Amino acid sequence: MTQREKPARLVVGNWKMHGGLAENAALLQDILAGLQAKQGARPACLVAVCSPYPYLGQLQQVLSESTVAWGAQNVNEHERGAFTGEVSVDMLADFGCRYVIVGHSERRALFGETSELVAAKAERALEGGLIPIVCVGETLAERESGRTESVVGEQLRAVLDRLGPKITNTVLAYEPVWAIGTGKTASPEQAQEVHAFLRGLVAQRYIDQAAGLQLLYGGSVKPGNAAELFAKPDINGGLIGGAALVAKDFLDIVAAG
Ligand code: PGA
Repeated sequence: MTQREKPARLVVGNWKMHGGLAENAALLQDILAGLQAKQGARPACLVAVCSPYPYLGQLQQVLSESTVAWGAQNVNEHERGAFTGEVSVDMLADFGCRYVIVGHSERRALFGETSELVAAKAERALEGGLIPIVCVGETLAERESGRTESVVGEQLRAVLDRLGPKITNTVLAYEPVWAIGTGKTASPEQAQEVHAFLRGLVAQRYIDQAAGLQLLYGGSVKPGNAAELFAKPDINGGLIGGAALVAKDFLDIVAAG
């Protein structure tokens, strides 16, 4: 039995519905300049940014020659068809996307996405050659009523049931809803506890692969708390919202990766 290596650190910027051509150009230029300046200073962690759909062409143009990967924040679960306003995995692939975020809590809460739909999107992404970043996380009420593990467990199981061992080709992101955009970060211990639980669930089915699963933490990650979070054994990087829109903050988080 060969156990997979511990996964590489990965830091992903989730721009959400922010940016514009000029703003993005400036942000990307600063990120690329900062990464170049720091090159060699520490082992490189993988870096990616996920923009709104209209800017994927811009990312492709600006980032193609760089070490920074890019992706989208959502995708449709069907291959093609009469789905007005939707975007397919193949379309994302056309623009060189490596990643696609699926099941972000904002999509679950605001757009009614169920765990089954999220699982279907993750499967379609893998079939189309993209890496889905599958988000799970509990609300404050769920945490306070002691239901964190049952909630994130249900969210992960839906994906596990659908993907089987291919789960290890995904990236999993634990994002407690109460920590997203609120300035309240889960403590490194709280985050580690849930990460270990999630990895354990995968290990119950796929013991050999579980150690290689890339597990990101997201929710108010900042330059001041990134190193502590990333130091935890089951935290392999971060999914960064607000701080990914400020080049210096994003670079400092990457440096902690
Ligand atoms: P935040 O967002 O870093 O602004 O809390 C994280 C996310 O929603 O992915």
